[in-house]
Amino acid sequence: MSKKVYIETYGCQMNVADSEVVVSILSEAGYEPTDNIKEAGLILINTCSIRDNAEQRIWGRLTAISYLKKQNKDLKIGIIGCMAERLKEKLIETDQLVDIVVGPDAYRELPLLVAEAESGHKAVNVLLSREETYSDISPVRMDKNGVSSFVSIMRGCNNMCAYCVVPYVRGAERSRNPESILKEVKELFAHGYREVTLLGQNVDSYKWEGNKVNMGFHDLLEKVALVNPLLRVRFSTSHPKDISDELLHTIARHENICKHIHLPAQSGSNPILKLMNREYSREGYMERVSAIRTIIPECSLSTDMITGFCTETDEDHKESLSLMEWGGFDFAYMFKYSERPGTKAARKYKDDVPENIKSARLSEMISLQNKISAKSKKKDIGMVFVVLVEGFSKRSGEFLSGRTSQNKVVVFPSGNYQRGEYVKVLIEKCTSATLIGKSI
Ligand code: 5AD
Ligand code: SF4
Repeated sequence: MSKKVYIETYGCQMNVADSEVVVSILSEAGYEPTDNIKEAGLILINTCSIRDNAEQRIWGRLTAISYLKKQNKDLKIGIIGCMAERLKEKLIETDQLVDIVVGPDAYRELPLLVAEAESGHKAVNVLLSREETYSDISPVRMDKNGVSSFVSIMRGCNNMCAYCVVPYVRGAERSRNPESILKEVKELFAHGYREVTLLGQNVDSYKWEGNKVNMGFHDLLEKVALVNPLLRVRFSTSHPKDISDELLHTIARHENICKHIHLPAQSGSNPILKLMNREYSREGYMERVSAIRTIIPECSLSTDMITGFCTETDEDHKESLSLMEWGGFDFAYMFKYSERPGTKAARKYKDDVPENIKSARLSEMISLQNKISAKSKKKDIGMVFVVLVEGFSKRSGEFLSGRTSQNKVVVFPSGNYQRGEYVKVLIEKCTSATLIGKSI
């Protein structure tokens, strides 16, 4: 009987991509992936540490699945990813349920560690690496639509944003060999995929120095775009201090490079940006947005914002709101600052904005962004967009759902269209999250 592994993924897109690498490694070792947690002999939870509430959710999940261990004495549970890296042995010592703890750079060791756990010992490997990119591993795709997929192009992060735990849990930045990236993209296209999202913590610092080629991110992006004009290419995440005009021109030049940039601002206030160690000013951020608007006029923009970072005053907060208004972002992810142990902010600054003020500022920010997002969708009414069909709409089998190049979700009557097809859609109306139209 084959052994079954169930994997649950929390956190960012990078974790989704990592889970596919993990399943590939375990498949080679004789494990079969399952969607049914109850039939699994091995449960892995791929975790996130970005904010305290991300970790609390995972603790809650561990408690919720504890009954499975009572039903099956041989069941092994592993915590992998960022929280494994952050808490290390502590996880095993404090939680009787956990048998295996594996950090993001040690997934190749999983078969050995699982075997160790099966022989009755607790197993831990949280070593970070300077080289590991899993470049030779073909991820086992676990997406539901077979149309869009993530491709990891680098790992780790060398920026030292004062609030951020990522450099500590994912280690130093390293880029993946471009040949292996292009091979993976070509295979995806051959298997019917029509969209790839290139992933890195800071894609703009992608760098490959081989004996024949030296490549930056814009070179890589162009090569991926040239794989096939029918393949859409997205990427995430850009950094305002590093996003170059060369990259913007590359995006403008290729129709199949999606016209959407996620450019986290984090704050609109100069003193806060400085304390955050973001290495750009409000004016610097605005200059990059203006460059995007000039070079790629049809480009959509999204951002991340943090409210209540150390020392943030009402005035700083107003600066964030005014930047958001000025930027007119199509979408924004907004968070309350959460102190992460070991980061520069935790070591050096006081988390001095009271919780109720953080919450009030966040609510104000969210309601402002809702208005801005609504405006951005209304603007699209009457326009025609090319939509890549991803599948049926969640609400009804009579409607298909897909996205525009600008990353906006569009729903329209199914007709005879199939997933993976490009359809021209005239936008007729919108809801708070979706554009609605008809094919033309
Ligand atoms: N508290 C709140 N938000 C954070 N982010 C990163 N670290 C923290 C933290 N300590 C946010 C940033 C980042 C996004 C992925 O998560 O906005 O861009
Ligand atoms: Fe992703 Fe950061 Fe969360 Fe790790 S801590 S899963 S890198 S968001």
